[in-house]
Amino acid sequence: MKKTILIGLFSALSIAVFNSCTKTNSQTLASNTIEEGEEDEGYITIDTSQIPDDQFGESVRYGRELMMKTAYYIGPNGKKGQYLGNKMNCTNCHQDAGTKPHAFNLMSSHDNYPQYRGRENKVLTLAERVNNCIMRPHSGKPLPLDSKEMVAFLSYFKWISKFVPKDGNFKGAKNLEIEFPDVAASPERGKVLFAENCARCHGNNGEGVYNADKSGYTYPPLWGQYGYQPGSSMHRVIKQAQWLKSNMPYDKVQLGKPYLTDKEALDIAAYVNDDSVHTRPNPKTLDYPDKMGKPIDYAHSPFNDNFTEEQHKYGPYKPIIAYWKKQGWKAVY
Ligand code: HEC
Ligand code: HEC
Repeated sequence: MKKTILIGLFSALSIAVFNSCTKTNSQTLASNTIEEGEEDEGYITIDTSQIPDDQFGESVRYGRELMMKTAYYIGPNGKKGQYLGNKMNCTNCHQDAGTKPHAFNLMSSHDNYPQYRGRENKVLTLAERVNNCIMRPHSGKPLPLDSKEMVAFLSYFKWISKFVPKDGNFKGAKNLEIEFPDVAASPERGKVLFAENCARCHGNNGEGVYNADKSGYTYPPLWGQYGYQPGSSMHRVIKQAQWLKSNMPYDKVQLGKPYLTDKEALDIAAYVNDDSVHTRPNPKTLDYPDKMGKPIDYAHSPFNDNFTEEQHKYGPYKPIIAYWKKQGWKAVY
């Protein structure tokens, strides 16, 4: 049963638009995305030619641009203001400007907020949630809530949300699940796998590669002073492994068809996030005031259990999940 609402993201028109705003990586088109006419297998795609031709549409278009060329507009040398502390773009993680399935997809975000968030232990609006990503993976300072840029992000999220069901239940809404092995994830095994599968693009030192005019990255950094911070969700081993499973290595993985095994994805995420061998920008806050809301792979004590920081970070996770279940608590990860 096909559930596709519309195909046409890569219609001639949008290819032109898309190309003009991603000098970063032209191979985005060749692999890793649903192309027109390709078997869609129940995934939802959007049709950017449907963005209305009015002021709201203009804001939607700008929001999409901001997702793809975030650093160009609001990066350290941004044309429209300096908010980000690094030159990553939102689409580096929320791929295809937040519409790629299994890539921290943002098509339901407009419907998901205001929402209670364990990290802050309070209810956040979508605008505040956008600012969380600006402050953490991007090491930046919050966008004013009434800025043209924030309004554009929100307009874009509203517009893409009309392609998905209101209950948020669609194929690709979440990243693929990881099955946990009985052993801990190993940064040592991960290091070998990283050299084989990742270093050719992200570099041996995880520093990434800038695009020609240095307005962003062809291959974004994974650690170092311009990488994401320890307070970012990408720094959590399970969270990253789930994303890697569906999205990396960029040149080998296909939509919904993982290249790495679950164990490999965990080992690689363990190596990438091993701060005993890598540097990162300092987190300003390592929050989660309420211990019950802490994800089990968020490796900063105090915890509501007696497992070590090491085990929270690398596993084995099953005993932690079993312990939480026994207490009648819900383990988040
Ligand atoms: C380094 C990777 C990375 C970058 C770059 C990044 N994000 Fe995120 N973002 C995440 C992760 C991880 C989550 C949490 C997803 C989850 O818990 O499933 C998230 C969550 C979100 C959410 C909440 C989604 C929801 O429905 O709850 C929004 C909105 C968001 N990001 C917007 C942005 C915007 C806008 C940018 C660019 C300014 C951005 N992000 C840059 C990794 C990133
Ligand atoms: C062929 C080149 C290539 C290979 C190989 C590759 N990546 Fe990537 N990676 C990319 C590109 C390009 C992006 C940005 C995606 C986008 O903007 O759509 C990216 C984004 C990322 C991100 C999110 C952004 C950030 O910098 O934090 C992570 C994490 C990541 N890759 C990890 C890996 C890991 C781990 C491997 C090995 C398993 C790997 N990549 C292999 C090209 C590659």
